[in-house]
Amino acid sequence: MSSRLEAEGLYKVFGRRPDEAVERLRAGADREELRADGTTAAVIDASFTVEPGHIFVVMGLSGSGKSTLLRMLNGLLEPTAGHVRFDGQDLTALTDRDLRAVRARKISMVFQHFALFPHRSVLENAAYGLAVQGVSRPEREKRAAEALALCGLAGWEKSWPDELSGGMQQRVGLARALATDADLLLMDESFSALDPLIRRDMQDQLLDLQKTLKKTIVFITHDLNEAMRLGDRIAVMRDGRIVQNGTAEDILVRPADDYVASFIQDVDRSRVLTASAVMDTDVRGDEADCGCETATPDTPFVELCAISARLTHPVAVLDTGRELVGVVPRQRLVALLGDEAADPAACDSPRDKRDKGGDKAVARA
Ligand SMILES: Nc1ncnc2c1ncn2[C@@H]1O[C@H](COP(=O)(O)OP(=O)(O)O)[C@@H](O)[C@H]1O
Ligand SMILES: [Mg+2]
Repeated sequence: MSSRLEAEGLYKVFGRRPDEAVERLRAGADREELRADGTTAAVIDASFTVEPGHIFVVMGLSGSGKSTLLRMLNGLLEPTAGHVRFDGQDLTALTDRDLRAVRARKISMVFQHFALFPHRSVLENAAYGLAVQGVSRPEREKRAAEALALCGLAGWEKSWPDELSGGMQQRVGLARALATDADLLLMDESFSALDPLIRRDMQDQLLDLQKTLKKTIVFITHDLNEAMRLGDRIAVMRDGRIVQNGTAEDILVRPADDYVASFIQDVDRSRVLTASAVMDTDVRGDEADCGCETATPDTPFVELCAISARLTHPVAVLDTGRELVGVVPRQRLVALLGDEAADPAACDSPRDKRDKGGDKAVARA
């Protein structure tokens, strides 16, 4: 069963007098002011919840505090202030011994450069976490073999790490994490060192695994496209702070500030957006069932474009009860493909103009 993870008001300050630094940060000081005193505010007031079975992506540039945040989530780093709760337990209140036990059984970590033991077989490498837990050899080999199979490595159990490609080695890392049955997977730039095609493959594999395993995953990346593909929710970090926490669509369509907006300039919107994010919900009239092609709120952007191209009027978006819930004018689709239109409101034609070609056309439809 999956568990819920919560961070509340987390701070991590490196350097002298960290508690005093937290007070100053709470009073409004920023990272730069503290740096002048030789103190690094790595994470500042981070709060979020990861729902069971979700992939929560933390995205930000190098140095923004992602790894520090992740290490506080499994207790490898003690927060300067704040709490981490997992499975109903306040990790920050546990003794070191209890914390180690939680870490061994419930939390697994996959790093960017996965260090395999060169003189152990792939199977032994995948079984490593279970060996640490004290699981018997037959049991751990069985579970490790299952995890390897899940990661597409059946048949490689007896191989040595150096017989595997970089992508395959990273899969062994993933298998090791999955073999322990840990509920919470913490993945720190786990795919960042891989070639683009292999990386995409790993992303697909993770999404595929997640459909059945439904782990609670915190995935760190500096790559926005990766964040958008994987994240049920994405937290954007800047200079130690989470500046936005939302779905991929939220971030694309309603960036919290100029910083996030500049980040998303290069994202392939057509892969992320669905009708619900781009439709105009201010529609009048009820049902638009005319036999014309329509969309649902989940219709992907690319499909919307195809439908729109076949119609002379905006695409009607109907819910499961075939009620009209929105319309998508073609000019909005076109504008969203361009860079300037992160915010659909910015590319609206004047309201009255759209009414003429918009609602009326749908009513006719
Ligand atoms: N152990 C440490 N001691 C001092 N400063 C640290 C330590 N770990 C990280 N930092 C600093 O904290 C900031 C955030 O680092 P990190 O969490 O590694 O960022 P990211 O993973 O986003 O690249 C950086 O300025 C880094 O130099
Ligand atoms: Mg890092």
